Amino acid sequence: MQLTLNEKVAIVTGAGRGIGAAIAKTLAAAGAKLAVNDLNPDRAERVVNEIIADGGEAMGISADISNKFQAVHLVEKTREKWGRIDILINNAGIEPTGSILKMDEWDWDRCMEVNLKGTFFMSQLVGRVMSWENSERGGAIVNIASTAGVQVALADRAAYCAAKAGVVGFARECAREFAQYGIRVNTVLPGIFETESTETLRQNAELMSRWENEIPLARLGQANEIAQTVLFLCSDGASYMTGQTITVDGGRVMR
Ligand SMILES: NC(=O)c1ccc[n+]([C@@H]2O[C@H](COP(=O)([O-])OP(=O)(O)OC[C@H]3O[C@@H](n4cnc5c(N)ncnc54)[C@H](O)[C@@H]3O)[C@@H](O)[C@H]2O)c1
Repeated sequence: MQLTLNEKVAIVTGAGRGIGAAIAKTLAAAGAKLAVNDLNPDRAERVVNEIIADGGEAMGISADISNKFQAVHLVEKTREKWGRIDILINNAGIEPTGSILKMDEWDWDRCMEVNLKGTFFMSQLVGRVMSWENSERGGAIVNIASTAGVQVALADRAAYCAAKAGVVGFARECAREFAQYGIRVNTVLPGIFETESTETLRQNAELMSRWENEIPLARLGQANEIAQTVLFLCSDGASYMTGQTITVDGGRVMR
């Protein structure tokens, strides 16, 4: 099946590296015009340059998606440039660590603000554009949550687990409310992936060998393997899918 996104305009948050960068490049290769968002402008520009070098169309927009004014700027700049928004990928996330007994309240709040409130801001703002302007065309929103908090516990990451479980709950209601406008909302739960954010953990040989034993496919995931799932969910191939939560974890969690 050939999955194309020709003429579509997509925003990917936190797309300056890792999973978000892979998603942005994959959607661009399928024909979408990309608003590459990141808190870090240099990271966003690097990804934009790679997309353009591969013949795609992209623009970098530095914004903190947990800040409503900056989220509005991201959405309005995209709309101004291309006149429409068809796809939103809520990918930006942070993962503060520490035991519950010692956790700082600021870490808890910041984790909720970026992972959960940022997803709400972006879904609301892009949902308004899609529902008011897309008419028959509708749109697609994909959230990147995690198996953590939803299917497994994750040591020293209680706030992260709570926020990601919150994203799953929010996304279901978002899918229900937005269905009347032809907007599909789905959520991907990655297992453990080889990105910069897991680099320190991957240096622990004991942990790596435990993961390889726990994961039936016996390896960590590659960012591109999330990107392919996201591409499918954004494409017409998934036209009858909404409100779904899809695990991509090499089979680590089976139900
Ligand atoms: N890597 C994994 O194994 C894994 C597993 C499960 C879920 N996830 C989720 O996938 C997503 C991407 O993970 P990753 O490993 O690529 O992360 P990463 O830390 O490598 O990249 C995240 C990017 O988001 C940006 N960012 C952070 N806060 C932001 C904000 N407020 N506004 C805009 N941009 C912001 C960062 O600058 C960074 O470039 C995250 O939501 C993460 O929780 C990752």
